[in-house]
Amino acid sequence: MKNVLVVGGAGYIGSHMAKCLSANGYVPIVLDNLDHGSRQTTKFGPFFEGSMNDASLLQKIFSEYPVAAVMHFAAFCYVGESMKQPAKYYQNNVVNTLALLECMVEENISNFIFSSSCSIYGEPVETPITEDHPKKPINPYGRSKLMVEQILHDFRQAYGLESICLRYFNAAGADPDGELGEDHDPETHLIPLILKTALGQRPHIDIFGDDYPTPDGTCIRDYIHIEDLAQAHLLALERLLTGLSGGQYNLGNATGYSVKQVIEIARSATNEEIPARVVERRPGDPAVLISSSEKAMKDLGWKPKFTDLEAIMETAWTWHKNNPNGYAP
Ligand SMILES: NC(=O)c1ccc[n+]([C@@H]2O[C@H](COP(=O)([O-])OP(=O)(O)OC[C@H]3O[C@@H](n4cnc5c(N)ncnc54)[C@H](O)[C@@H]3O)[C@@H](O)[C@H]2O)c1
Repeated sequence: MKNVLVVGGAGYIGSHMAKCLSANGYVPIVLDNLDHGSRQTTKFGPFFEGSMNDASLLQKIFSEYPVAAVMHFAAFCYVGESMKQPAKYYQNNVVNTLALLECMVEENISNFIFSSSCSIYGEPVETPITEDHPKKPINPYGRSKLMVEQILHDFRQAYGLESICLRYFNAAGADPDGELGEDHDPETHLIPLILKTALGQRPHIDIFGDDYPTPDGTCIRDYIHIEDLAQAHLLALERLLTGLSGGQYNLGNATGYSVKQVIEIARSATNEEIPARVVERRPGDPAVLISSSEKAMKDLGWKPKFTDLEAIMETAWTWHKNNPNGYAP
């Protein structure tokens, strides 16, 4: 059985995953309510428009397309918004996910891959961050991800629903074929914002604080290419389908780049000046977030291809240059 339900498969990471599944002999069945994603990306298999908490729609999908596993990308993902509207985040990211999981249990579907996040760790007490690092998320978004991980632990014990939680650091870059890219609305991610500035769509890129305890004073993050993320999901899927146990895995490159370094790399990739200005720190931004992904490499056999930010930036720039308005017509 090669059908995989990709919930949130019209979004940035889910759409790249659907393409990767299709290229590797699986049929991605995309379920997305298009709250944020784009219909144009859903061309790699059957598409159902609707929410993951719609039990009758899920039953219809599962009866038409018996699935081997569910990959779950659907969530609200804006940290700042989650501080102002926590109910919206707990409702969608936790309650609606719980409804999806309950439906899976009823339908005897026992393999689940979850998009978790480094935000579950909160303020790091040591870097690189390993999976055992204390989990003290500092915003409702991170808490919503940790709650789902805890629910998955209990569902494994009680119902035998096996799961793998992939804790991404900063997803970045675009499909190397140029077919898919990153188009969030509103956009809050650093690289697309820098590239929109390079395209002249924004007057400058804001640097949120340059007085952090880092070499150039700006925050340091670990960027992971979207195709390497998709490969990790594929390996996680194969692990579950061969009957091996699930678990939790960090996904990053174990290399940190400061905001100023990211801007410099974008300047040389684009040959544009990219004006930048320093503004106030944002609450809740840790100074340094760097992943240890050794566990994913050891257990899943994962080996990222895009290990430097220059290569990641190149794919992002190609997509933004060719799609200056994103997926908008
Ligand atoms: N982008 C990153 O750097 C990053 C880092 C860590 C974790 N994540 C996680 O990865 C996942 C995907 O992130 P993304 O950047 O692709 O986000 P995205 O917003 O591009 O994609 C999410 C998709 O889920 C859909 N969706 C939301 N609620 C839904 C619901 N109730 N029913 C059906 N569809 C629904 C949206 O319409 C959207 O297409 C999210 O769970 C996010 O928390 C992302």
